[in-house]
Amino acid sequence: MPDIDDVQDGKQYHVGVPMEAKAFFLKGSNSLDWGIKNRLARIFSPTTGRTVMLAVDHGYFQGPTTGLERIDLNIVPLVPYADALMITRGALRTSIPPEMQKPVVLRCSGGQSMLKELSNELVAVDIQDALRLNAAAMAVQVYIGGEHEHQSVGNLVKVVDAGNQYGIATLAVTGVGKELVRDSRYLGLATRICAEMGAHFVKTYYCESGFSRVAAACPVPVLIAGGKKLPELDALRMAYRAVDEGAAGVDMGRNVFQCEAPMAMLQAVRAVVHEKEKPEKAYELFLSLKNQDAFAAQRS
Ligand code: 5RP
Repeated sequence: MPDIDDVQDGKQYHVGVPMEAKAFFLKGSNSLDWGIKNRLARIFSPTTGRTVMLAVDHGYFQGPTTGLERIDLNIVPLVPYADALMITRGALRTSIPPEMQKPVVLRCSGGQSMLKELSNELVAVDIQDALRLNAAAMAVQVYIGGEHEHQSVGNLVKVVDAGNQYGIATLAVTGVGKELVRDSRYLGLATRICAEMGAHFVKTYYCESGFSRVAAACPVPVLIAGGKKLPELDALRMAYRAVDEGAAGVDMGRNVFQCEAPMAMLQAVRAVVHEKEKPEKAYELFLSLKNQDAFAAQRS
């Protein structure tokens, strides 16, 4: 029971010390509400402003991808080294222990397979289920220039509107069909449309020429996907260039989980993204950690 006899007048008012009105650390996010900022601050490091997300959602259209055959065995041990996990609800519920402390970026579009037209997606998760799964953000693929461009932009809009009601952020992922060129002109168009439609952060591809313009013209943080498996040093070089040219981090899948030493690779990527370690140095780190990587031992 509250003891009203013991209520004392406070003394520490710090009269004369104005309360600070600090800007939120993430680009384009200052006007958002507290809950959505808090979720974004779990995905992005407030210290560096960047993130290393681990993407393991590939099964949503391509089934048991190499390296993702057993998410419970292959991915769970990697999670401590990532800042956030991008995953489908099916894989999350079945294969990830709920004790996990990392923020979830929930894959929320789908409905096609790699056997058919990829852009033919729908919103595949209800906002109530995203809330039940404690998602920090929801991810939607957007196919600018694709056969179902209009439908995929519609999916993004629906997810942004639902997420805004509850303070859950939306990640737009720019999907590129085989017929489209991943140059800065295209990526600039796609990322900007996603941001203008309300995405809170955007994932796209790195391009050798003009990536800094893509990142600069997108008013919310831009992440890069890793794409198909590259030699480790090349993947680290790509991550370094992307961050150096304005990316707020990576959302990497195959270049981590298809690596023979995925834990070592994830730590090397972290060094590049968060410490701006030069790729050659990060590669040395990879080589030194590789020997201790439990997966490398299993796979050799
Ligand atoms: C699938 C995705 C993947 O999450 C994305 O492509 C990241 O993985 P990778 O680094 O393997 O490209 O969004 O559409």
